[in-house]
Amino acid sequence: MPVRHDRTHPMDRRVRVQGQPVDSYPALSPEAERGSVRRVTVVGEEVLSRPCREVTEFGTPELSTLIDDMFLTMYVADGAGLAANQVGVGLRLFVYDCPDDHGIRHLGHIINPVLDLPEPGSRRLVDDFEGCLSVPGATVTVPRTDRAVVRGLDKDGNPLVIEGTGYFARCLQHETDHLLGHTYLDRLSKRDRKDAWRQMEDRRDDVFAQRAVKAASLGR
Ligand code: NI
Repeated sequence: MPVRHDRTHPMDRRVRVQGQPVDSYPALSPEAERGSVRRVTVVGEEVLSRPCREVTEFGTPELSTLIDDMFLTMYVADGAGLAANQVGVGLRLFVYDCPDDHGIRHLGHIINPVLDLPEPGSRRLVDDFEGCLSVPGATVTVPRTDRAVVRGLDKDGNPLVIEGTGYFARCLQHETDHLLGHTYLDRLSKRDRKDAWRQMEDRRDDVFAQRAVKAASLGR
Protein backbone atom coordinates (compact mmCIF):
# COMPACT_ATOMS: atom_id res chain seq x y z
CA MET A 1 0.00 0.00 0.00
CA PRO A 2 1.29 3.50 -0.76
CA VAL A 3 2.04 6.22 1.77
CA ARG A 4 -0.87 8.64 2.13
CA HIS A 5 0.45 12.13 1.51
CA ASP A 6 -2.65 13.99 2.68
CA ARG A 7 -2.07 12.96 6.31
CA THR A 8 0.71 14.14 8.59
CA HIS A 9 3.23 11.43 9.35
CA PRO A 10 4.93 11.91 12.73
CA MET A 11 8.46 10.82 11.98
CA ASP A 12 10.04 10.66 15.41
CA ARG A 13 7.33 10.65 18.10
CA ARG A 14 4.84 8.01 19.14
CA VAL A 15 6.34 5.04 17.35
CA ARG A 16 5.63 1.34 17.77
CA VAL A 17 8.20 -1.13 16.47
CA GLN A 18 7.04 -4.77 16.32
CA GLY A 19 4.07 -3.65 18.44
CA GLN A 20 6.26 -2.18 21.21
CA PRO A 21 6.39 1.58 21.94
CA VAL A 22 9.77 3.30 21.44
CA ASP A 23 10.71 6.95 22.11
CA SER A 24 12.13 7.76 18.70
CA TYR A 25 13.03 6.05 15.48
CA PRO A 26 14.82 7.06 12.27
CA ALA A 27 12.77 7.90 9.16
CA LEU A 28 14.53 5.08 7.32
CA SER A 29 14.49 1.89 9.41
CA PRO A 30 17.78 0.04 10.13
CA GLU A 31 16.52 -2.84 7.96
CA ALA A 32 16.30 -0.47 4.97
CA GLU A 33 19.83 0.82 5.67
CA ARG A 34 21.11 -2.76 5.24
CA GLY A 35 18.81 -3.70 2.36
CA SER A 36 18.96 -3.77 -1.42
CA VAL A 37 16.17 -2.69 -3.75
CA ARG A 38 14.25 -5.51 -5.41
CA ARG A 39 11.85 -5.28 -8.34
CA VAL A 40 8.20 -4.82 -7.35
CA THR A 41 5.92 -7.30 -9.11
CA VAL A 42 2.91 -5.98 -11.05
CA VAL A 43 -0.64 -7.30 -11.00
CA GLY A 44 -1.00 -10.02 -13.64
CA GLU A 45 2.19 -11.78 -12.51
CA GLU A 46 1.39 -15.26 -11.21
CA VAL A 47 3.19 -14.87 -7.86
CA LEU A 48 0.58 -12.25 -6.86
CA SER A 49 -2.41 -14.47 -7.60
CA ARG A 50 -1.55 -17.66 -5.72
CA PRO A 51 -1.47 -18.18 -1.94
CA CYS A 52 1.99 -17.83 -0.40
CA ARG A 53 3.68 -20.68 1.53
CA GLU A 54 4.13 -20.70 5.31
CA VAL A 55 7.60 -19.78 6.53
CA THR A 56 8.98 -22.84 8.37
CA GLU A 57 12.62 -21.83 9.02
CA PHE A 58 13.29 -18.98 11.42
CA GLY A 59 16.41 -17.09 12.42
CA THR A 60 18.09 -17.60 9.05
CA PRO A 61 20.24 -14.98 7.29
CA GLU A 62 18.07 -15.41 4.16
CA LEU A 63 14.96 -14.37 6.07
CA SER A 64 16.72 -11.32 7.56
CA THR A 65 18.03 -10.28 4.13
CA LEU A 66 14.56 -10.65 2.62
CA ILE A 67 13.09 -8.39 5.34
CA ASP A 68 15.90 -5.82 4.89
CA ASP A 69 15.34 -5.75 1.13
CA MET A 70 11.56 -5.50 1.52
CA PHE A 71 11.91 -2.49 3.83
CA LEU A 72 14.16 -0.60 1.42
CA THR A 73 12.00 -1.58 -1.57
CA MET A 74 8.92 -0.33 0.30
CA TYR A 75 10.52 3.07 1.04
CA VAL A 76 11.82 3.47 -2.52
CA ALA A 77 8.26 2.87 -3.79
CA ASP A 78 6.80 5.29 -1.19
CA GLY A 79 5.00 2.39 0.45
CA ALA A 80 3.28 1.94 3.81
CA GLY A 81 3.21 -1.86 3.47
CA LEU A 82 4.74 -4.54 1.26
CA ALA A 83 4.10 -8.29 1.02
CA ALA A 84 6.83 -10.81 0.07
CA ASN A 85 5.12 -11.84 -3.18
CA GLN A 86 5.39 -8.19 -4.21
CA VAL A 87 9.14 -8.77 -4.52
CA GLY A 88 8.51 -12.14 -6.19
CA VAL A 89 8.96 -14.33 -3.11
CA GLY A 90 5.98 -16.59 -2.40
CA LEU A 91 6.32 -16.66 1.40
CA ARG A 92 3.78 -15.57 4.03
CA LEU A 93 5.38 -12.37 5.32
CA PHE A 94 4.90 -8.62 5.06
CA VAL A 95 6.58 -5.42 6.26
CA TYR A 96 4.94 -2.11 7.12
CA ASP A 97 5.64 1.49 8.17
CA CYS A 98 2.21 3.03 8.52
CA PRO A 99 0.37 5.59 10.68
CA ASP A 100 -2.87 4.76 12.46
CA ASP A 101 -5.88 6.94 13.36
CA HIS A 102 -4.18 8.16 16.56
CA GLY A 103 -1.07 9.50 14.81
CA ILE A 104 1.07 6.58 15.95
CA ARG A 105 3.64 5.31 13.45
CA HIS A 106 3.71 1.50 13.33
CA LEU A 107 6.56 -0.37 11.72
CA GLY A 108 7.83 -3.89 11.59
CA HIS A 109 7.52 -7.25 9.91
CA ILE A 110 5.19 -10.18 10.56
CA ILE A 111 5.45 -13.78 9.38
CA ASN A 112 2.62 -16.27 8.76
CA PRO A 113 0.07 -13.60 9.73
CA VAL A 114 -3.55 -14.49 10.41
CA LEU A 115 -6.11 -11.68 10.30
CA ASP A 116 -8.62 -11.36 13.11
CA LEU A 117 -11.42 -8.91 12.26
CA PRO A 118 -14.05 -7.61 14.73
CA GLU A 119 -17.27 -9.70 14.99
CA PRO A 120 -19.76 -8.81 12.21
CA GLY A 121 -22.04 -7.09 14.78
CA SER A 122 -19.33 -4.74 16.07
CA ARG A 123 -17.68 -4.28 12.69
CA ARG A 124 -17.60 -0.80 11.16
CA LEU A 125 -16.81 -0.56 7.47
CA VAL A 126 -15.05 2.57 6.25
CA ASP A 127 -14.79 3.63 2.60
CA ASP A 128 -11.43 5.20 1.82
CA PHE A 129 -8.93 5.44 -0.99
CA GLU A 130 -6.56 2.55 -1.38
CA GLY A 131 -3.68 1.84 -3.69
CA CYS A 132 -1.11 -0.91 -4.15
CA LEU A 133 2.56 -0.80 -5.15
CA SER A 134 1.76 -3.69 -7.52
CA VAL A 135 -1.00 -1.65 -9.21
CA PRO A 136 1.24 1.37 -9.78
CA GLY A 137 -0.58 4.68 -10.17
CA ALA A 138 -4.14 3.57 -9.33
CA THR A 139 -6.20 4.61 -6.29
CA VAL A 140 -9.77 3.43 -5.77
CA THR A 141 -12.20 3.53 -2.84
CA VAL A 142 -12.36 0.20 -0.98
CA PRO A 143 -14.49 -0.64 2.09
CA ARG A 144 -12.46 -2.04 5.02
CA THR A 145 -13.10 -2.53 8.73
CA ASP A 146 -11.76 0.31 10.90
CA ARG A 147 -9.98 -2.10 13.29
CA ALA A 148 -7.92 -5.21 12.65
CA VAL A 149 -5.70 -7.56 14.60
CA VAL A 150 -3.02 -9.72 13.01
CA ARG A 151 -1.40 -12.67 14.81
CA GLY A 152 1.86 -14.14 13.59
CA LEU A 153 5.56 -14.54 14.32
CA ASP A 154 8.72 -12.46 14.09
CA LYS A 155 11.81 -13.57 12.13
CA ASP A 156 13.09 -15.52 15.15
CA GLY A 157 9.79 -17.35 15.57
CA ASN A 158 8.50 -15.36 18.57
CA PRO A 159 4.73 -14.78 18.68
CA LEU A 160 3.45 -11.32 17.70
CA VAL A 161 0.07 -9.65 17.93
CA ILE A 162 -0.31 -6.40 15.98
CA GLU A 163 -3.39 -4.25 16.33
CA GLY A 164 -4.38 -1.46 13.96
CA THR A 165 -6.95 1.28 13.49
CA GLY A 166 -7.70 3.54 10.55
CA TYR A 167 -5.21 3.48 7.69
CA PHE A 168 -3.07 0.93 9.55
CA ALA A 169 -6.08 -1.42 9.94
CA ARG A 170 -6.57 -1.02 6.19
CA CYS A 171 -2.88 -1.81 5.62
CA LEU A 172 -3.05 -5.01 7.73
CA GLN A 173 -6.08 -6.21 5.74
CA HIS A 174 -4.51 -5.25 2.40
CA GLU A 175 -1.20 -7.05 3.10
CA THR A 176 -2.78 -10.24 4.47
CA ASP A 177 -4.94 -10.31 1.31
CA HIS A 178 -1.73 -10.33 -0.78
CA LEU A 179 -0.46 -13.42 1.05
CA LEU A 180 -3.73 -15.22 0.22
CA GLY A 181 -3.11 -14.45 -3.46
CA HIS A 182 -5.44 -11.44 -3.69
CA THR A 183 -4.96 -7.80 -4.60
CA TYR A 184 -7.49 -5.13 -3.69
CA LEU A 185 -8.70 -5.26 -7.30
CA ASP A 186 -10.39 -8.57 -6.39
CA ARG A 187 -12.61 -6.64 -3.96
CA LEU A 188 -13.82 -4.12 -6.55
CA SER A 189 -16.86 -4.01 -8.81
CA LYS A 190 -16.17 -4.75 -12.47
CA ARG A 191 -16.45 -1.03 -13.26
CA ASP A 192 -14.04 0.08 -10.51
CA ARG A 193 -11.58 -2.65 -11.50
CA LYS A 194 -11.62 -1.39 -15.10
CA ASP A 195 -11.08 2.14 -13.80
CA ALA A 196 -8.08 0.99 -11.72
CA TRP A 197 -6.52 -0.75 -14.75
CA ARG A 198 -7.00 2.42 -16.82
CA GLN A 199 -5.38 4.57 -14.09
CA MET A 200 -2.47 2.13 -13.92
CA GLU A 201 -1.92 2.22 -17.69
CA ASP A 202 -1.95 6.04 -17.66
CA ARG A 203 0.35 6.57 -14.67
CA ARG A 204 2.56 3.48 -14.41
CA ASP A 205 5.56 4.99 -16.24
CA ASP A 206 5.48 8.12 -14.03
CA VAL A 207 5.41 5.94 -10.90
CA PHE A 208 8.40 3.89 -12.11
CA ALA A 209 10.28 7.15 -12.86
CA GLN A 210 9.51 8.45 -9.34
CA ARG A 211 10.83 5.21 -7.82
CA ALA A 212 14.07 5.53 -9.80
CA VAL A 213 14.51 9.09 -8.49
CA LYS A 214 13.81 8.00 -4.91
CA ALA A 215 16.26 5.07 -5.20
CA ALA A 216 18.93 7.46 -6.51
CA SER A 217 18.24 9.94 -3.68
CA LEU A 218 18.86 7.11 -1.20
CA GLY A 219 22.10 6.31 -3.02
CA ARG A 220 20.89 2.97 -4.47
NI1 NI B 1 -0.61 -4.03 -2.27
